[in-house]
Amino acid sequence: MCDEVIDEEKTWREDYLTILVLGASGDLAQKKTYPSLINLYAWKLLPKNVQIIGLARSEMTNEELRNRLKPHLVEKNGHSKETIDDFLNLCTYQSAPSYGDKETFKSIAKNMEEFEKRTPANRLFYFAIPPSVFSETALAIKETCMQDKEKGWSRLIVEKPFGKDLQTFEELNQTLSEHFSEENLYRIDHYLGKELVQNLLILRFSNVWFERVWNTDSIQCVILTFKESIGIEGRGGYFDEYGIIRDIFQNHLLQVLALLAMEPPTMADGPDAGTFIRDAKVKVLRSIKPLTLDDVILGQYDGYAENSTITNKDSKTATFAALRLFINTPRWHNVPIIMKAGKALNEGKAEMRIQFKDAPAGQFIFQGQACPRNELVMRMQPKEAIYMKTNVKSPGFTSTPIQSELEVNYDSRFEANCNPDAYTRLILDVIRGRHSAFVRDDELRYAWEIFTPLLHEIERSGVTPIVYKQGSRGPPEADDFIEKKAGYIRN
Ligand code: NDP
Ligand code: BG6
Repeated sequence: MCDEVIDEEKTWREDYLTILVLGASGDLAQKKTYPSLINLYAWKLLPKNVQIIGLARSEMTNEELRNRLKPHLVEKNGHSKETIDDFLNLCTYQSAPSYGDKETFKSIAKNMEEFEKRTPANRLFYFAIPPSVFSETALAIKETCMQDKEKGWSRLIVEKPFGKDLQTFEELNQTLSEHFSEENLYRIDHYLGKELVQNLLILRFSNVWFERVWNTDSIQCVILTFKESIGIEGRGGYFDEYGIIRDIFQNHLLQVLALLAMEPPTMADGPDAGTFIRDAKVKVLRSIKPLTLDDVILGQYDGYAENSTITNKDSKTATFAALRLFINTPRWHNVPIIMKAGKALNEGKAEMRIQFKDAPAGQFIFQGQACPRNELVMRMQPKEAIYMKTNVKSPGFTSTPIQSELEVNYDSRFEANCNPDAYTRLILDVIRGRHSAFVRDDELRYAWEIFTPLLHEIERSGVTPIVYKQGSRGPPEADDFIEKKAGYIRN
């Protein structure tokens, strides 16, 4: 099914492709990168001549890498044992004394040249490594492994976090852009690969009833929610330094908001779509004022600092936050936007919720009977769904309005369709040279401009987050905050 979707582009199946996974020993590579690559392989979406080299500092043989990967390749997409074995045969491993070691990269370059029997011969570098080693790695690649333009492309997928604030972003960006053009760089934010996020363009701009009410005249507030039931697990070293705002708000939620709030791009498909879509997102980001402490409420789950991977046992790092912002454009004038995210909560869920204003006549013609507000909910996970909370007459002899849902449930509606996970889609986009679901440097600059003053204020003032119970909805104060700051009414 997925195969048919891009049938028109089958020509690149004949190309040569080397994928170099940097940080192959790590969490992301094993849980996301390799499992996405096997999906593409099994669905015949990789070129026939492909090799996948894993690189990291840990000593490992090819066989040891394969054994490590195996448990992550079986679940979900149900690939057969034969497919898994065939895929693993394409995967080799090389260790390096450091990520900037040029001798290692020279030997990888030699390996690639020997593998590439004809052109086009392309090279994909996946940075599944901590940001602290991005620069040295990029430099080593630039000096040793870039393909001649006439022979094929060289593309880098760079993971978040891209900086810690505006200044560190500018430094990292400067280093990368000195050596690579935007054309080479794919800054990944995997929320942009989620089905419901990719659906926003079609939903908003191809349905007359949505586009007409998608503005301040009809919308009371927008609430973007990310909830995880798991805590920080073994990622304390990273998380305690970055916190929930840098982990989720500055990237995933802000990217989703930009798509939800942008004006129609000039084109949403075709070769220039990436430029037009990202121009439209940038306009939204530039219309948001930098945040301050008054705009936010912070929480930390109980027992957070007891995690063995956290060294600062007095840590004030937030694992939960709710904040309000405004987008200063005519479309969004005075519409409160709430973002809420937290770890170790009562459920795992990510959704976009739009609450509409009270229906004018609904407030008086039903003789005082409550007429709940309409809501449009787009659930990104688990189980993608779109539903509209709509008032209907209570069946029977009464004329009482009751709320019901008009819904599209992806599981039942699109059962037979191909619904790949975000990383699988995005890696394929890189191979196809599509930039529109990747983050351009100016988007990141404006995103950091919005969040940096708040992050610095939190760090300077040493604000103590409200402790909430693991497995709860977060600090109870967050509900009051949302109701007061957004005029949201829980239906
Ligand atoms: P890991 O901590 O697992 O690091 C990946 C690999 O990098 C490790 O296996 C290790 O390999 C090497 N490494 C770790 N620390 C250092 C260090 N201080 N200096 C040099 N090398 C080091 O990270 P993840 O796999 O979790 O994440 C990789 C990247 O992806 C990061 O930028 C992260 O923020 C991002 N990311 C991760 C997500 C996830 O779910 N894990 C989700 C979204 C983004 P070795 O020692 O063998 O060289
Ligand atoms: C990552 C964050 O970017 O996204 C993690 O670093 C978080 O902390 C993850 O758990 C959530 O991704 P998903 O796709 O499971 O919602």
